[in-house]
Amino acid sequence: MTNPSLLILPGDGIGPEVMAEVRKIIEWFGTKRNMAFDVSEDLVGGAAYDKHGTPLHDDTMAKAQEVDAVLLGAVGGPKYEALDFSVKPERGLLRLRKEMDLFANLRPAQCFDALADFSSLKKDVVAGLDIMIVRELTSGIYFGEPRGIIKEGNERVGINTQRYTESEIARVARSAFELARKRGNKVCSMEKANVMESGVLWRDVVTEVHQAEYPDVELSHMYADAGAMQLCRWPKQFDVIVTDNLFGDLLSDAAAMLTGSLGMLPSASLGAPMANGRPKALYEPVHGSAPDIAGQGKANPIACILSFAMALRYSFDLGAEADRLEAAVEQVLADGKRTADLLGEEGVTPVSTGEMGDAVVAALDASI
Ligand code: NAI
Ligand code: MG
Repeated sequence: MTNPSLLILPGDGIGPEVMAEVRKIIEWFGTKRNMAFDVSEDLVGGAAYDKHGTPLHDDTMAKAQEVDAVLLGAVGGPKYEALDFSVKPERGLLRLRKEMDLFANLRPAQCFDALADFSSLKKDVVAGLDIMIVRELTSGIYFGEPRGIIKEGNERVGINTQRYTESEIARVARSAFELARKRGNKVCSMEKANVMESGVLWRDVVTEVHQAEYPDVELSHMYADAGAMQLCRWPKQFDVIVTDNLFGDLLSDAAAMLTGSLGMLPSASLGAPMANGRPKALYEPVHGSAPDIAGQGKANPIACILSFAMALRYSFDLGAEADRLEAAVEQVLADGKRTADLLGEEGVTPVSTGEMGDAVVAALDASI
């Protein structure tokens, strides 16, 4: 049997710094758990532009299509801001998402007890929270035609079109049901079927996919505006939420902030199943390249570490090991270890990026 393959693209700014900590963890799984990955590393973003004059080389793109999962740090930075749009670092990331056809964006909102005080909500509302928002990423109103600003008589009219095909809805629904089976077995689908035809179709198709393929998963429906209220009122009622591109953009940002710092937030983007049954997958922290703290050893590596935990769970079927890694992170936070972005209380000395990574490895050691 061949080892699962992983392509690492550290990128720019704090990307390489946080990725170095993930490397320690990957190594730990290889030596201590006998779970070796075939890891290759390549350039993306500004780093790729510096070497190749393009933010993503064709060879790197081809490699990304072949591996079981891609893990990306972050791209961009002030050095590249004046570049032409066509070669901007962000284009490298957009090309990956587009050519891998990553239509399901997964954004977890997970609250670690030690950080529950960080939330703007009451502690008992967020403590233990663990939900997943699945946002459709490649269609909907951000892409629909017609679009534009036209002139009608004496005034300008701005136009965007919400458009979803049956197959676009069905595939993201399948992603959500598959995830739910690996989690709490519950999906809530959100749209505005009360006022939008695309919402009526969304509800119908999700229901059909559910009845035909996933009757074992519990399904409910909610209007997206009511869903926004429920997310603030009692988010723990949810397990997996599936919704369209526009509502998902808003709901996932809102849900993420239930739990605190940007340095803690992982994400995944999944596409269609490959020949081996695994979905095409790109894992990355939600944060950017943080040029203001790059090169200073201040970056919090946890968002990137938790992105790797998502890869363990969703690409490699190693759910128990993902639990182990998340528990190690939880332990380190409970022990009071804080990078500078997590400092609330006075008198706590922050740990460096490397110290945080080492602490997670030590907690992993203690778990076996
Ligand atoms: P950012 O996420 O890089 O930083 C926002 C703030 O959060 C900064 O103060 C930063 O120091 C802090 N921060 C972010 N991640 C952190 C971490 N792991 N630990 C501690 N503090 C952290 O967003 P910003 O400043 O808007 O963008 C900076 C660059 O990153 C830009 O070039 C932008 O285009 C790019 N970017 C790239 C993304 C990606 O690669 N997916 C996503 C967002 C921005
Ligand atoms: Mg957004």
